[in-house]
Amino acid sequence: MKDEVAVKCSQIRKSFGTGDLRFEVLHGIDLEVKAGELLMLVGPSGSGKTTLISIIAGILSHDNGHCELFGNNIDAFSDAEKTKFRGENLGFVFQSFNLIPMLSNSENIVIPLLLNHMERHEAMKLAEERLDQFGLGDKVDNFPAQLSGGQQQRVAIARAVIHNPKLIVCDEPTSALDHENGALVLNHLREIVDKENRALIVVTHDSRIFDYADRIVHLEDGNIASEKTNHG
Ligand SMILES: Nc1ncnc2c1ncn2[C@@H]1O[C@H](COP(=O)(O)OP(=O)(O)O)[C@@H](O)[C@H]1O
Ligand SMILES: [Mg+2]
Repeated sequence: MKDEVAVKCSQIRKSFGTGDLRFEVLHGIDLEVKAGELLMLVGPSGSGKTTLISIIAGILSHDNGHCELFGNNIDAFSDAEKTKFRGENLGFVFQSFNLIPMLSNSENIVIPLLLNHMERHEAMKLAEERLDQFGLGDKVDNFPAQLSGGQQQRVAIARAVIHNPKLIVCDEPTSALDHENGALVLNHLREIVDKENRALIVVTHDSRIFDYADRIVHLEDGNIASEKTNHG
């Protein structure tokens, strides 16, 4: 459904630490992202970008406010329901990639498919296609440690999109990529957003990719400082 509300955060607050050491890093964030929208989240280091997307993805809890995904109040779900919902609807690219070293690149990528009960042979075929799209067709049987940082980052992105999730969240997905591979990845992500009507949130410092965004939200010290819509 075009313009379906994918993410709706209301007054999200988050603190770390306890007692005298307690400090608030998100001060009441309101944010909406629609299906078919590519939103970039920018802002200085420490402004709360990773914290916010981790809350949206349900990887981290929040103290106040609520966050709905596709009209579902995830907070009300049981742990099993949350896991199932995330497994089916969410793709997440971690800043640190989080690839599993004992698994080959294709085995890393098929994880979301196997969790969603796809047959292994079929899953491996999709993984190979996806690796090929990201310029890694010859790295299927290699292990993450045999790849450069930029290649590992592309494997991590392939894993986040392989199960065709409705919401994809990427933390600095081009930090290790040169211009050419950054453009290759963003072109694919943009195509997924446009053709499949997916919602995409990209945290980035990388001004080379700002043009791919529909909207850029600027986070500053745990508040939304400004936002700007691209393309008329
Ligand atoms: N698990 C944690 N425990 C304590 N402080 C944290 C934790 N995660 C993040 N922080 C702090 O929260 C603030 C925001 O961090 P983060 O969301 O990672 O910022 P960004 O991604 O914008 O660089 C920083 O001051 C950071 O040190
Ligand atoms: Mg961060």
